[in-house]
Amino acid sequence: MADDRTGSIDTLLHEERRYSPSQEFKAAARWNSPAIYERAQRDPDGFWAEMAKELDWFEPWNKVLDWDVPKAQWFVGGKLNASYNCLDRHVKTWRKNKAAIIWEGEPGDERILTYQDLHREVNRCAATLQRFGVHQGDRVAIYLGMIPELVIAMLACARIGAPHTVVFGGFSPDALSDRIQDSEVKLVITADGAWRRGNIVPLKENVDRALKTCPSVRTVLVVNRVMNATRVPMDEGRDHWWHREMDHSGGTCVEPAVLDSEHPLYILYTSGTTGKPKGLMHTTGGYLVGTQMTSATVLDIKDTDTYWCTADIGWVTGHSYIVYGPLSLGATSVMYEGAPDHPDKDRFWAIIEKYKINVLYTAPTAIRAFMRWGSEFPLRHDLSSLRLLGTVGEPINPEAWVWYRKHIGGDRVPVVDTWWQTETGMMMIAPLPGITELKPGSATFPLPGIEADIVDDRGNSIPLGGGGYLVLKRPWPAMARTIWGDPDRWKRQYWDRFPGIYFTGDGAKRDKEGYYWILGRVDDVLNIAGHRIGTMELESALVSHDSVAEAAVIGIPHEIKGQAIAAFVTLRADETRPHKELIEELKKHVTERIGAIARPDKIFITAELPKTRSAKIMRRLLRDIAEGHILGDTTTLADPNVIQSIKLQYEERE
Ligand code: WT7
Repeated sequence: MADDRTGSIDTLLHEERRYSPSQEFKAAARWNSPAIYERAQRDPDGFWAEMAKELDWFEPWNKVLDWDVPKAQWFVGGKLNASYNCLDRHVKTWRKNKAAIIWEGEPGDERILTYQDLHREVNRCAATLQRFGVHQGDRVAIYLGMIPELVIAMLACARIGAPHTVVFGGFSPDALSDRIQDSEVKLVITADGAWRRGNIVPLKENVDRALKTCPSVRTVLVVNRVMNATRVPMDEGRDHWWHREMDHSGGTCVEPAVLDSEHPLYILYTSGTTGKPKGLMHTTGGYLVGTQMTSATVLDIKDTDTYWCTADIGWVTGHSYIVYGPLSLGATSVMYEGAPDHPDKDRFWAIIEKYKINVLYTAPTAIRAFMRWGSEFPLRHDLSSLRLLGTVGEPINPEAWVWYRKHIGGDRVPVVDTWWQTETGMMMIAPLPGITELKPGSATFPLPGIEADIVDDRGNSIPLGGGGYLVLKRPWPAMARTIWGDPDRWKRQYWDRFPGIYFTGDGAKRDKEGYYWILGRVDDVLNIAGHRIGTMELESALVSHDSVAEAAVIGIPHEIKGQAIAAFVTLRADETRPHKELIEELKKHVTERIGAIARPDKIFITAELPKTRSAKIMRRLLRDIAEGHILGDTTTLADPNVIQSIKLQYEERE
């Protein structure tokens, strides 16, 4: 267990502040009676069937859930199409000319796509994909910045039943190539570049490098985003400009494929406890049911709202709560391309004021950065349009929660802290803002229809007031169905530790009133600024450097990012370069192998790694060194005696 962190959680459990919804909020909220929890518990299948009726099905299902651990099927026999649910059904109503996407580029350019616009573009893109031989079941990789074409491409894939795999634009060529190879992608959609803090991210160049090791890819479509700011080489025969091909498609309509409820919608890679990222596969029916329901009830998005989720679509938050949830609901979803501090630290607040945003969904790490920058930046803008705030991605400390409510929410709006994962596809533990009394720092309760628990090592439920492993005891509609190409890992990783029960990898506590307080990961996965990264992945990136013999990576607390990366490495015998130079080179190397999110904050070069007699690395000792509890900021660890002598002291203490 994350025993070294339970101390701070105990103080959280004494949090006395409470926030109840205002009468006004309650009266307007989609769900405002606690009876919904009992309704779902009494008859979960019936409850989910009711939720599923909010979608348009070409053919009804004949069974809500077919559960044979660890294989779930939801709405068995039902037929539908995600793109139809996000577009066609709205185009037939008054929403036809409603904004589906309000997009703002980092340089300040703007595009608004109505449901009708989006429908047209998605059809043109679907026709383009078909022309390049993409068939139902083929995989398409999308490696783009936050531009509308990303949503268009996703929905076009969904329209023809070609699962997409979106790769975050911050990932390196190696990381991109691993993902393309793993899912045997046929076509890649990218751009000439992406704007980030006024600089160009060379997406196409990265694709060119990645594709050297990806024989399955036959076509690359290139969106012209950064215009003439950069010139990218085009490989004749393989590379095609997106705009030319879209023009070529003209006004073609592509009938949405009639897909099985369990047809794969997408694969999304995330870090696990091994060196190899896993491709979580999500399917169509259940996923849409779960994301639409939570968009409507937790984020409480209404037809009159302008809603903004600040996540990148490269992560699951963007998939579920920029694209599929809000659009299936017919909402207006805002998308912003760039950095929160470009050109100044008030960019988010300027966007909120400009579009009169009503619902904002962001990450604790961003909130902590805003706190650090100071309240003068939000004060420059009128944020009175906001009526609900949400957070996701990592535990939010009560100070940040209260700051967010006060300085962004004007001390009047609910803040919903939503716990979920790439694997769960949808929010799982979160308040219902018209019902739940909020406690800052707590994700509150499992949503209706969700059965969570906190258990000990042997899987026994821990009474209220205690902590342990967070598990989920009943399948839920948006759950991932498997790990792409590795069903054994799906079973081993999630369903074997507590047989038949889903193990989240998180630790949590429950207070006397049953509120959940999430502690964070209890496995070898770090959460850096809300992004998941495996210690093994980092370690293998480090040892892939010629100078490194062994590496051990740990997470250490960080004021803004939540966790930071500290790496301990031992060098090959023939390595003689100055350590300072080498440390910089290793940081760069990891960035190149994985991406900037994986850049280690601290690297310690040591003569050896402290191991127990059974050869397990003593991570607690490393943590104490990295946090400066033992040596302060010195890095004299390369002296062979240093680690050895601290290790002895440690063994005596244990
Ligand atoms: C891990 C999942 C869900 C989308 C973004 C992250 C941590 C997520 C919370 C929260 C405390 C949280 C957990 C979880 N996490 N939300 N509200 N409170 N921790 O998705 O990359 O799959 O990471 O993020 O540790 O297991 P992900």
